[in-house]
Amino acid sequence: MKIDLHQTTAFTDQKPGTSGLRKKVRQFQQPGYLENFVQSVFDTIGDVSGKVLVLGGDGRYFNREALQIIIRMAVASGIERLLVGQNGLLSTPAASCVIRKYKADGGFILSASHNPGGPEEDFGIKFNLANGGPATETFTNSVFECSKKLTAYRIADISPIDIDTLGSRQIGPTTVEIIDSVADYADLMSHLFDFKLIGSALRSGALTICFDAMHAVTGPYARRILEDRLGAPHGSVINAIPLEDFGGGHPDPNLIHARQLVEIMQRPNAPALGAASDGDGDRNMVMGSRFFVTPSDSLAVIAANLSLLPGYRSGLCGVARSMPTSQAVDRVARAVGIDSYETPTGWKFFGNLLDARKITVCGEESFGAGSDHIREKDGLWAVLFWLNLLAIKKKPVSDILREHWSNFGRDYYTRHDYESIESAKAEDIMAHLRSQLAQLPGAEFGIYRVVLADDFKYKDPIDGSVTEHQGIRVIFENGSRIVFRLSGTGTEGATLRIYIERYERRASLHDQETQVYLSDLIAIAESLSQVHQRSGMSGPSVIT
Ligand code: G1P
Ligand code: ZN
Repeated sequence: MKIDLHQTTAFTDQKPGTSGLRKKVRQFQQPGYLENFVQSVFDTIGDVSGKVLVLGGDGRYFNREALQIIIRMAVASGIERLLVGQNGLLSTPAASCVIRKYKADGGFILSASHNPGGPEEDFGIKFNLANGGPATETFTNSVFECSKKLTAYRIADISPIDIDTLGSRQIGPTTVEIIDSVADYADLMSHLFDFKLIGSALRSGALTICFDAMHAVTGPYARRILEDRLGAPHGSVINAIPLEDFGGGHPDPNLIHARQLVEIMQRPNAPALGAASDGDGDRNMVMGSRFFVTPSDSLAVIAANLSLLPGYRSGLCGVARSMPTSQAVDRVARAVGIDSYETPTGWKFFGNLLDARKITVCGEESFGAGSDHIREKDGLWAVLFWLNLLAIKKKPVSDILREHWSNFGRDYYTRHDYESIESAKAEDIMAHLRSQLAQLPGAEFGIYRVVLADDFKYKDPIDGSVTEHQGIRVIFENGSRIVFRLSGTGTEGATLRIYIERYERRASLHDQETQVYLSDLIAIAESLSQVHQRSGMSGPSVIT
């Protein structure tokens, strides 16, 4: 076997964002682009010979080619064992599960999550560490530094490996094992949830579900778990075949992009639970019949009820949410008497807290929830939680939410996204907001009086690392909040996200329309940021 030390020119734009390196497919197809990044990860690890790595992706366009390149580079660098998901598929949570189960040293996940796929769309690569979680900022910063200085990468001259047939083969120093993408993950789920109870409710028809896999990676997972193992009728999983372009859709589980599911859940005979997951299977959207569950509320309901389920009977040790996520879960934590942590946006900030057993459950407003079972957010896990809860409570989703609100109060919540703004204009909006921070405390806007305005800074309670500029927060006396931040996952221009929330204790006011209830705060957010005037857009492109 010939190993080529291939001379290369360094790229200057390989800084990973909120979740790995994401670029247009075309950028990844430039000679050396993917190779340089992979070599920079290997160089950051140091001596990779003898290491065990996991490899898989969400099946998007360029997934298979990229996998072959990484296999050839892993062989050239002397990796001892490579566990590759069959057909190149591993959902993000399944990859995290496999890394932990086989005590691998880490893994590559090829995905641009909920971004569209295809030759003109997005591709991405993330590296996860031995705990199964996204690489820390320290690690990704070092990868970026390596990538700027890289002069050569190592690659083996071998023909493509069959990644579709299960089994193991030796290639030079490396054992390449093609593993069942679903089995280990399904097994883990069966220990966390009451499969017997859920199964009998689904088989008898007492419980019904429609799961929209959005032609992304969770199709095979949902079919195997929901239909084959739990006995939901065939057809309960829709759009189940993973496609390289996700069927032309945008694999983001929200009310806009999961349109088919939303339409099904409006029908008079809608199933009890409607759910969807994203490109790589870490996000989830949950709906009841004609009822949408806001992700921040879903997290709070999970925290309030998780200890009813087999895998969590010993209770929760703490919870965490990203800063822009609503405070609903904090209320549950206070009531139960456990700690709640507020972290910057992105799952990587939960890893230390989970490893140190400070928290059991965590989540983000961006349709992400998970627990200490792995180190990624987990779409199907959240759906199984809801199925299990419905099987126990035997009530509609909407009743469960109304009861939750009457116990804890309701945190009305919305996020307004202004997408594809020119980067300079987006920076200008943030600079304009920053320039007001000093004067804002004490300022009054109708009934809202500002008590705190800052640029969120996080000191990790476990390793002491500090992360700055994580979003502008404006907090009012009555607990309402407005948060502004720029997305770190886009590949075109910039996206401004405005997060708005207000707490309502009175049950008589728990059935308001969210946009109406929050309209005065929305107006304050627009005027503080001058977003319309400065972006040239007359309104948000997506409201969730
Ligand atoms: C978005 C979400 C964030 C999530 C990330 C990866 O990042 O807002 O919560 O962790 O996707 O799924 P953003 O584009 O806002 O940086
Ligand atoms: Zn995702």
